[in-house]
Amino acid sequence: MPLKSLLKLPAPKWLEEGLQHIWLPYAQMQNGFAPLPVISTEGTRITLSNGETLIDGIASWWSACHGYNHPHILSAMQQQLGQMPHVMFAGLAHEPAFKLATRLSKLTGLPKVFFSDSGSTAVEVAMKMAVQYWANQHRKTKTRFVSFHNAYHGDTMGAMSVSDPENGMHHVYAPYMPMQYVVDLPADEYSFAEFEAVLKDNKKTIAGLIMEPLVQGAGGMRFHSPDIVAEIYRLCKEHEILFIADEVATGFGRTGSMFAYQQSGISPDLLCVGKALTGGTMTLAATLASEEIFNAFLGEELTKALMHGPTYMANPLACAAANASLDLFEKEPRLKQIEAIEAQMWAGLKSLVDLPQVEDVRVMGAIGVVELKNATWEQMFLLRQKFAEAGCWLRPFGNIIYLTPAFTIAKEDLETLLAVISNEVRNLKH
Ligand SMILES: Cc1ncc(COP(=O)(O)O)c(C=O)c1O
Repeated sequence: MPLKSLLKLPAPKWLEEGLQHIWLPYAQMQNGFAPLPVISTEGTRITLSNGETLIDGIASWWSACHGYNHPHILSAMQQQLGQMPHVMFAGLAHEPAFKLATRLSKLTGLPKVFFSDSGSTAVEVAMKMAVQYWANQHRKTKTRFVSFHNAYHGDTMGAMSVSDPENGMHHVYAPYMPMQYVVDLPADEYSFAEFEAVLKDNKKTIAGLIMEPLVQGAGGMRFHSPDIVAEIYRLCKEHEILFIADEVATGFGRTGSMFAYQQSGISPDLLCVGKALTGGTMTLAATLASEEIFNAFLGEELTKALMHGPTYMANPLACAAANASLDLFEKEPRLKQIEAIEAQMWAGLKSLVDLPQVEDVRVMGAIGVVELKNATWEQMFLLRQKFAEAGCWLRPFGNIIYLTPAFTIAKEDLETLLAVISNEVRNLKH
């Protein structure tokens, strides 16, 4: 096996063999870490092939918000599986998707829902909708987007083009991507004036602005206030620029409200959701649109219609899982649990801020972040190893250690995660 092992455990045959063929995500295949072999999940536990378990601190990249294998979601999926795992969505309709669209509309106040497969495609769809919204009104020069440094919107072409161009993930693809207006996130009077100048000077070419409200996730887990989102939104309205909220990561309770934008008292023109939509069970995403956006696609001619339709669009099994996940938000006290997680994380992490090796500690909803000073690539990989050795599944990146656990995590499990992080951060050489 050319890759290093994160834990000393015997590699099952399928891993050994498959490693000759698999191409892993975000991984240097020459000298990175081999993935840990997982055989099952339950609640907030991941069981490895040797029987060891890890406490999951990141809920499979923010998605398994009710914990793994929640019986209510599994039973809804099992029922749907026996009945109809999939049927195409162009020309055919099924209850799970239509029900889900109605429920998402009620939750967000955005009346129209377009389903796709992943967060990245939800962003692509939003960008296509924005461009065509203007084209359908004979304003064909409005084709570009404003986005922010440290943003992350996905790995497909449009989504990459509005993500941070410098953070190392997409740099090499720059010559292949469309040019956008990627600017600093404004924070004060001076930077807002600069930001507004970009909108004003380029409004003829700008179709929309895309942002992750309250939390820039994979671009560095940076937080900003609801007031900043509200002011950006106001300026978009003033300059005829569509406001796209990318809540693929922040949606479904993660920041303490069902959707982050709701804390700003705004109503986006377009909203992207994914990740936790199915409670971490199936890939599904949606782009929600206002009535005004939707109406611009109406007309006698097909050319005015939205030309998008993934093969597995609105997959019934995934929609059944999403409906069951929404049931849980209705039936169980998720937002209260998130409040408790926020308090526990803050109590467990706040003292780290005094350490010389720590740049910042921040917590919002069920997101906890320890930002290190000058951490090296090797140190971060070593940390990942230490966490795994201590029985915790955490995936630090850049100079960030973060927690995005299931909302159902037991107090003691969260305590263990916090203690392990504290311990390893304290042991870090400055
Ligand atoms: C804010 C945001 N948008 C879009 C995406 C892309 O989603 P996916 O990985 O499902 O394509 C992500 C993924 O991390 C994200 O955090």
